[in-house]
Amino acid sequence: MSAGPSVDPERFRHAMGRWATGVSIVTAHHEGVDAGLTVNALLSVSLRPPTVLVSLQRDVDTLPVLRRAGGFGVSFLAADQPELSRRFAQSVPSEAKFRDGGWHRGSTGVPLIDGAVAALECRLVSMTPTFDHELVVGEVVGIEERPDAEPLLFFRGRYADVERDGRIRLGGGPG
Ligand SMILES: Cc1cc2nc3c(=O)[nH]c(=O)nc-3n(C[C@H](O)[C@H](O)[C@H](O)COP(=O)(O)O)c2cc1C
Repeated sequence: MSAGPSVDPERFRHAMGRWATGVSIVTAHHEGVDAGLTVNALLSVSLRPPTVLVSLQRDVDTLPVLRRAGGFGVSFLAADQPELSRRFAQSVPSEAKFRDGGWHRGSTGVPLIDGAVAALECRLVSMTPTFDHELVVGEVVGIEERPDAEPLLFFRGRYADVERDGRIRLGGGPG
């Protein structure tokens, strides 16, 4: 193992690719504008109150909408939704991401993805700039769940799902 003050960012990215995650779409809605992006940097922070954290690049288009909205949604994608993950990871105008439907509004008005394994609606608690990212913390104010759905996974830069025998099957990449 090598250690030192200057780890190459690409090497770091490669290593973090070995941290298996789910895949979510983080969304926001403000004054008629919907925005959203694919996110796997997500964690549960506290139970009382229920709180989550997402880490967003500081230059993504969704961030200013989320900030103005004072809230956001998080939809956990199902195994059959890699195309939605690809769509929301594109750097395109936000209308293009929402144009083809496949989403509905939660009780706070934020877009949530149809058929997601679960979806959260959050009130923005804090935003903390950390190097090239913004750590966004939200208190969960609404929950939807689809109990029978299997999750989409992301591992080694590829989408994956869990087979019936419990094995992880790697599929295509995000590109
Ligand atoms: C599997 C996957 C996970 C991603 N996770 C994150 C993430 O955690 N945070 C982030 O800022 N971007 C993440 N991205 C990249 C954004 O989805 C991408 O930059 C998107 O184009 C930003 O959209 P926007 O500028 O319209 O908001 C991820 C992309 C993929 C494919």
